[in-house]
Amino acid sequence: MLFELEKVNKVAFDDMNTVHLEELELANTLYDYLTTTKEHDHSKIEKMLEEFAFHLRDHFLFEEDMMRETNCPILSCHESEHKRVQKIMFQIFTEYARTKDVRLLQFYFEREFKSWIENHIVTMDTVTGAFLNDPSVFEGKSC
Ligand SMILES: [Fe+2]
Ligand SMILES: [Fe+2]
Repeated sequence: MLFELEKVNKVAFDDMNTVHLEELELANTLYDYLTTTKEHDHSKIEKMLEEFAFHLRDHFLFEEDMMRETNCPILSCHESEHKRVQKIMFQIFTEYARTKDVRLLQFYFEREFKSWIENHIVTMDTVTGAFLNDPSVFEGKSC
């Protein structure tokens, strides 16, 4: 298991928490398959990666749409951080598709995605969640 779901930090806007938990559950399922299976089925892994990548894309779009609709002051930096991270993920998944190297995916989830999302939730997502919950506390602030 990669994430202990009950210990995942919460933000002030609950729909974001729901999306985060769904995504970390997908990451757990994928990671467990990668680390506990001896004979990997690569087409199964490809499907799981696709599901994960679509979820990540929708997760980011959901936050960006909410920020755009509400004129959230951190939209531009939050959005560029999402884009940066998606780019890394696509590079890793493309490299896996080429090499079928399961260790690369394991490394990505352990060393890259886990620390990134945990940090992102307590920083940018927390600020966005607080804003969506009560925009009045942010008057005059931006990134
Ligand atoms: Fe998020
Ligand atoms: Fe985010």
